Amino acid sequence: MSLLIINIKELLQVRDQHILQVSGKEMGILPTIKNAFLLIEDDIIRDFGSMDNCPNKTPDRIIDAQGKMVLPTWCDSHTHIVYSGHREQEFVDRIHGLSYEDIAKRGGGILNSAKKLQKTSEDDLYEQSIKRVKAVIKMGTGALEIKSGYGLTVDAELKMLRVIKRVQDNFPIPIKSTFLGAHALPSEYKDNKQGYIDLIVNEMLPQISKEQLADFIDVFCEKGYFNLEDTEIILNAGKQYGLTPKIHVNQFNTFGGVALGVKHHALSVDHLEELNADDINSLIGSQTMPVALPSCSYFLSIPYTPARKLIDAGLPLALASDYNPGSTPSGNMNFVVSTACIKMKMTPEEAINAATINGAYAMGLANEVGSITKGKKANVMLTKAIPSYHYLPYAFGDDHIEMVIINGTPINY
Ligand code: NIG
Ligand code: FE
Repeated sequence: MSLLIINIKELLQVRDQHILQVSGKEMGILPTIKNAFLLIEDDIIRDFGSMDNCPNKTPDRIIDAQGKMVLPTWCDSHTHIVYSGHREQEFVDRIHGLSYEDIAKRGGGILNSAKKLQKTSEDDLYEQSIKRVKAVIKMGTGALEIKSGYGLTVDAELKMLRVIKRVQDNFPIPIKSTFLGAHALPSEYKDNKQGYIDLIVNEMLPQISKEQLADFIDVFCEKGYFNLEDTEIILNAGKQYGLTPKIHVNQFNTFGGVALGVKHHALSVDHLEELNADDINSLIGSQTMPVALPSCSYFLSIPYTPARKLIDAGLPLALASDYNPGSTPSGNMNFVVSTACIKMKMTPEEAINAATINGAYAMGLANEVGSITKGKKANVMLTKAIPSYHYLPYAFGDDHIEMVIINGTPINY
């Protein structure tokens, strides 16, 4: 199958060379080609360029993109999209003045979702989750990371990870799986944190490794959850099973978790709503991608990750959704990109780089997706007719996407 898109008003995120990420000032540059063509063969980007050089062969299908833009699909490197039920009562409680921490302390929050998930069958969990997966692909997400962490027992964590595996097997986009057993302390272990850490290390990890259910290991490194010492034990254990660290850190407090992530060669450190100079210094010269989750800041009314400080220090930054029932019940990456521009003072160029190539890096997929590069997967989206690409984040809340193409095939969910 070949598909030729012609007369593209502007083809965005064009990279001749395979690059892994962009950082600092480079984030402000979004390479584009105006009046362009894009040739897809089977599931691969075969060629692109100016319409002046458009190949003159007859493809199986031609799309005339007059007035429209084409860009790579979003790479959402941080989600908890597999979950059971929802938590709108906590949302209302927060409107009435309770904080996210207050709710967690009285057994709500992550433990509330864990209770629901433990009672949900694997099939039901799969059916609930794929509705969301289809919805985010329709909104332009073409690569995804999904975490466990709402199981918190051996059986329920395995159930979650098996559902993630089923999602991987049944959807055409690349999906990475993360084991986040250390998401919260289950109530049975409330006075025995070491017991739960032992369960993660001695029972969950060996089984997960045996069934090859995870690529990454994650920990919620935060006051009231897992401290630096706990985090280090769990990351080390995960590494012994070949899992790469990726941590939740600095959501509410700063106490050295970022440096710990860097020390353990974490692929990414995520959240970073609170960030001090030591955190930034520890990231300089590292291979660790900082990841901001602006929809979470928006929903919880907490600070936004200081993107300017990171980028102005020469660092890269990725944007992800954090889609989950408690802090971010939305997987809309278009909203993430707009919010990053509006609230974090990222330029549209920086935000698009952060949500494509840098997001791909943050889940180890930068060789496959995240840019318009020959040989990469043909996961691209066609916008409606819009005046410029700045219009994408500017006209926030509007649906600008006309077509999402995954592996060279338009999706029709
Ligand atoms: O990334 N911060 C920890 N975990 C999730 C939220 C979990 C929940 O509230 O259910 C997050 O925001
Ligand atoms: Fe998260």
